[in-house]
Amino acid sequence: MRLKLKGGMLMAQTTFIVRRAKDSDIYEVMNINLETLPENYWYGFYKHLLDNWGEAFLVAEVEGKLVGYSMSRVEEQGDPALLGLVSEIGVEESIFKRVITTLKNIKNLRPVGHLVSIAVRAPYRRMGIGSKLLEETIRVLREVYNVDSIYLEVRVSNEPAIRLYEKFGFKKARIIKGYYSDGEDAYIMVKRLK
Ligand code: ACO
Ligand code: ZN
Repeated sequence: MRLKLKGGMLMAQTTFIVRRAKDSDIYEVMNINLETLPENYWYGFYKHLLDNWGEAFLVAEVEGKLVGYSMSRVEEQGDPALLGLVSEIGVEESIFKRVITTLKNIKNLRPVGHLVSIAVRAPYRRMGIGSKLLEETIRVLREVYNVDSIYLEVRVSNEPAIRLYEKFGFKKARIIKGYYSDGEDAYIMVKRLK
């Protein structure tokens, strides 16, 4: 713990580091995900992201304990929904069908970064850890994976996350009706890098 001034008050400041994830971090990342989000994944999903886009799989650590993560993938074919090539997204039209139909007609799409999931354990929020994870994710996607843009889906009610993304230049690009399994809509937010 260090002390810093925030709004004229002396606050305890938690010292954290952000580093690349390792295989041995996966179970703890899964625990953080289960604690913090209703969208959960099986072990193989995390392993696949780590094996393929490992530079963009980051964890935050406080005194040797994992307190947050950020994981991404690169969509090599781009995402037609992002490029504004698909008109409106109907509730009845599945995302799968929409993407397949569009991909048939489009070639040479540029790879785009896809921020799959980011989270920080509740007691460690509002300390800048989410910002550091996101900043580093953007840097790696840009410099290592050479993407032109980054997108993500977020619940329309998730104000903390939306604020965080807006702080880093993400813009609400569109809404996907009923995206989540409980029926909530998602914003697709996009940050253009080039
Ligand atoms: N209310 C309003 N704005 C907020 C809040 C909040 N509760 N929390 C963060 N913000 C905004 C603020 O602008 C904040 O800057 P400030 O503290 O200077 O005002 C900015 O985000 C950055 O805050 P950090 O401290 O860097 O972020 P934190 O470490 O708290 O992590 C996160 C933010 C990851 C969204 C965290 O709240 C969390 O884990 N939430 C639950 C999981 C989640 O919703 N993840 C995103 C799902 S969508 C996806 O993964 C693609
Ligand atoms: Zn996604």
